Amino acid sequence: MKDDVLRLFTETFASEATVYSQAPGRLEILGNHTDYNEGYVLSTAVDCYTFIALKPVTGNTCRVISPGIAETVRDFSVNEIGETAIDKDWLNYLKGTLRELQKRGHKLPAFEAAILSTVPLSAGMSSSASLEIALIQSFYQLLELPVDISEMARIGQGCENNYIGANTGLMDQFSSLAGQKDSFVLSEYRHLNVQTVPVPQNISLVVFNSGVKHDLSKEYNERRSQCEESVEILKQFYPDIQSLRDINLEQLAAQEANFPEEVYKRALHVVGENTRVHQALDCFKEKDVEGFAQLLFESHESSINNFENSCSELDFLVDIAHSSNLCYGARLSGGGFGGISIHLVESRRAENYQSFVQKTFKNRYGFTPDSFICQSAQGAFAETI
Ligand code: GLA
Repeated sequence: MKDDVLRLFTETFASEATVYSQAPGRLEILGNHTDYNEGYVLSTAVDCYTFIALKPVTGNTCRVISPGIAETVRDFSVNEIGETAIDKDWLNYLKGTLRELQKRGHKLPAFEAAILSTVPLSAGMSSSASLEIALIQSFYQLLELPVDISEMARIGQGCENNYIGANTGLMDQFSSLAGQKDSFVLSEYRHLNVQTVPVPQNISLVVFNSGVKHDLSKEYNERRSQCEESVEILKQFYPDIQSLRDINLEQLAAQEANFPEEVYKRALHVVGENTRVHQALDCFKEKDVEGFAQLLFESHESSINNFENSCSELDFLVDIAHSSNLCYGARLSGGGFGGISIHLVESRRAENYQSFVQKTFKNRYGFTPDSFICQSAQGAFAETI
C-alpha cells in the first residue's frame, strides 16, 4: 500500500510526496469504557491501516485526495479551519487534527496529501483515530518534533472532543500509536503508562460487524456522566478516591444501597472491567487461554446487564461463540450500542469459524455480516521519502 499511496500522490499532484506515514486501526480486547475513568485497557493495533503521502506547499491551500471516501480532490485553507466542525464532512478529522497542532503553537504549512485506508469505516475499528494519528505522524516528521505518544494521542483526542464533538477517551489513539506485532497493548489512563504484552501463540481475532451503526455521541456521553456521578457518591465514603479506578469490587458492593440502581450498574461494569484486565494478565502468565477467553464472555455479560451498551445482533454473535467449539471467547469491542464483536479463535480454525458465524447470522438477520480475521500489528510511524 505504501507504493500505491505514493503513486496516487504523484498521479494526482504531478510531483513527489516528501513524507509517508501509516497508522493502524485498533480493537479493544478488555477494559470497556475504562479509559475515561482513568482505568486500564487491553487493546491491540490491527493489520489494517490509514496510509498518507504528503508534501508541504507554499500558499494557504491544502489539497487532499482520498478515493475510498471521495473521488475528487478537496481543498481548504490551512488558516481558516475554525474551532468546531459545522457539518459531517470527513475532512473534519483532518481539520480538527490540524487545529489541535496549531493550538499547541506549531506553525503548519499548507500541504497536498493522498490518503488510502484499509480500516473499515464506521465499523468500530477506529478508522477516524487511525486517520488522525497518520496525519499527526506526518506532521511530527515534517516539523521534526520528537515522538511523544501521550502528546500525539491527546492531539487526536482533542480533534474528537473539541472539533468533532465526540467526548471519547484516549484508548483509540494510544492503541494505534503503541501497537506492536504479536502483542497486545496494556494501557493505563491516569499516568498514561503503556506497555505491550505478548499475544498468546496461534491466536487470531475474528471481527464481525453487527451492521448496527453506532452513533456514540448521546449514549456515550450519558454513560460518562453516570460514571462521574458514581464517583461523587463513592467519595462520601472513600474521600481519597479520584475515579472509579481507585475502587475495587468489594468497596463498591459495600455501598450499593447508597446508589440509584442504574448508576450502580454502570460503576460495576467499569470496576469489573478494570479487574478483568488484571485477571487477563495473570492468565497470560499462566498461558491460560481458556481462562482469558472466559473473561471476554464475562465482559460481554456485564455489557448486557450492567452497562447496557450491547444490542441483540451483538448478543447473537456472542451466543454463537458460546455454542461453538471453534471459539474460545467473544465480546463486543469499543463503545458498543452496535458496532463489532471480537472472537478469539485458534488461527488454523479462523476461516472455518468465520464462515460458520456468517452463515448462522445470515439465517437469522438476512445479511452476511462483514468480517475480518485480524492479527496484532505494528503501531503508527512516519518516514521522510
Ligand atoms: C470508544 C471511545 C474510546 C473508549 C471506548 C469504550 O471507542 O473512542 O475512547 O472509551 O469507546 O471503551
